[in-house]
Amino acid sequence: MDKLVINGGGRLKGPVEISGAKNAALPIMAASLLAEGPSTIRRVPELADIRSMTDLLGDLGVSVTRSADGALRLNVEDEGCHHAQYDRVRKMRASVCVLGPLLAKRRAARVSMPGGCAIGSRPVDLHLRGLEALGAEIDLDGGDIVAHAKKLTGAEVFLGGPFGSTVLGTANVMMAAALAEGQTMIESAACEPEIADLANYLNAMGARISGAGTPRLVIDGVEELTGVEHEVIPDRIEVGTFMIAAALTNGEITLRHARIDHMMAVVDKLREIGVVIEREDGGAVVSSARRLEPVDVTTQPYPGFPTDLQAQLMSLLCLADGNSAVTEKVFPDRFMHVAELLRMGANIRKEGPTTIVTGVKRLIGAPVMASDLRASAALVLAGLVARGTTTVQRVYHIDRGYEHIESKLRSIGADIQRVSD
Ligand code: EPU
Repeated sequence: MDKLVINGGGRLKGPVEISGAKNAALPIMAASLLAEGPSTIRRVPELADIRSMTDLLGDLGVSVTRSADGALRLNVEDEGCHHAQYDRVRKMRASVCVLGPLLAKRRAARVSMPGGCAIGSRPVDLHLRGLEALGAEIDLDGGDIVAHAKKLTGAEVFLGGPFGSTVLGTANVMMAAALAEGQTMIESAACEPEIADLANYLNAMGARISGAGTPRLVIDGVEELTGVEHEVIPDRIEVGTFMIAAALTNGEITLRHARIDHMMAVVDKLREIGVVIEREDGGAVVSSARRLEPVDVTTQPYPGFPTDLQAQLMSLLCLADGNSAVTEKVFPDRFMHVAELLRMGANIRKEGPTTIVTGVKRLIGAPVMASDLRASAALVLAGLVARGTTTVQRVYHIDRGYEHIESKLRSIGADIQRVSD
C-alpha cells in the first residue's frame, strides 16, 4: 500500500493547472447511459473514482475509452444489463447515480444500496422518493434497490432533507425526468455547479432543463437524447485545497483554469483569515499574509462553504492566531481528521457538530492515517507546514479525488514522495 512522505516547511510557489471536477465528471459519465450515439467528455480527471465509474459502465454495456488528448469517449453498446453490483457500489457511493438513467432508458434498475462511509451515514431516501414521484416502483431486495417503471411521468418533486438538498439525488431525478413524459418541477434542488454542468450536458444532448444552478428546476421530458461533446468544469475543491496550501506555507500559487466564481464562500472566508486572492483571467494568484486570523465557519450546501473543504480549512485554522469554530451542517460526523491532526500537535475540541480549533505556533510531523478523501488532503496540507516528517498512510483515499497530487505539489516546491510499503 502506498504512503506519502512529506518533509514540511517549504514555501510553495508557482503555477498549478486545475483538473476537471470529479464530482461533475461522475454523474456526466452516468448520463451517457441515456444517449443514443457516442459522447466525448473532455477534461475528465484520471482518478480511481473515474476508473470505478468506467468499470461500472462497462458492466452496463457502455464502452469507455480514453483518447490520446485525455478525452473520454462513451458509447452505449448493449442495453441488456441493468444491475449495478455491490462490489462496484461499495467502492464508490457515486455509483448510485446510474439509478435514474437506467430507470429512464431501460425501464428497470437494480442498484446495490450504498452503505455508510467514513464521513457518516449516507441515506438515499430522497433519491427514491423523487423517482417514485415520477412513477417508479421501488423495492429493496437482498441489499439492492430494485426499480421498475413502465413509463415515467413528469411530477412535482421536493428534494429538501434534514441537511438541505441532495446533490446526487438531484442528479438522479433530473436525469430520469429528462426522458419522462411531460413536465417535472424539482423544488429544493441542489444548486452546486456540478449539477449545473450536468444540466448543460443533458441540454446539449437535447434535454429541456431550465433553472440549473437554482433551487427550482423545470424539466420538460423529451423522447430521445443524443451523444455530444462536453468539457467538464474545473474542480473547485482542488482549487480550494491549493489556495489553502498557499496560505499555510506563506507561498504564492497561481491557479490556472480555475472558476473562482464557483467558490465565493471559500474566497470570502480565506480573505477573512488574511489570505490574499487576486483574481486574474482564468484563475487567481493566492498568497498569504504572515498572520492568520481565526474565523467561524459553517459548512452548507452551495453556495455556502463546502463540506468537501472543511477538513482542509481546519488544517489552516490550526495555525491561526486564536480560536475558530468549525460547524458541519452537511455531514455532522465528518470529523475523522480531528484525531489525526491532534497527533500533529493541533489543539482541537469537538462539541457535537462543532469543533473549536485553537491555533498553535506549529504543527509537528507524525505518522497519520487518512480516513477519507478530503481528510487525507487535510493531512497532506498539515504535513506541508509541519516541522519534520509526516507520513500519510492509506493514500488510496487521496487518489480517489486528486489528480497527480504529489507531482503537482512537487512542481511548486513541496518535498513530498510516494513510497510503496
Ligand atoms: N441525504 C439524505 N437523504 C438522501 C440523500 C442525502 O438525508 O436521500 C443527506 C446526506 O446524508 C447528507 C446531505 O443530505 O447529510 C447531503 O448529501 P448529498 O446527497 O448532497 O451528498 P452526495 O450527493 O452523496 C455529493 C458529493 C460529496 C459531497 C456532497 C455534499 C459526489 C460524487 N459526491 O455527495 O463529495 O460531500 O455531495 O456536497 O458528487 C467528496 O468529493 O469527497 C464527496 C464526499
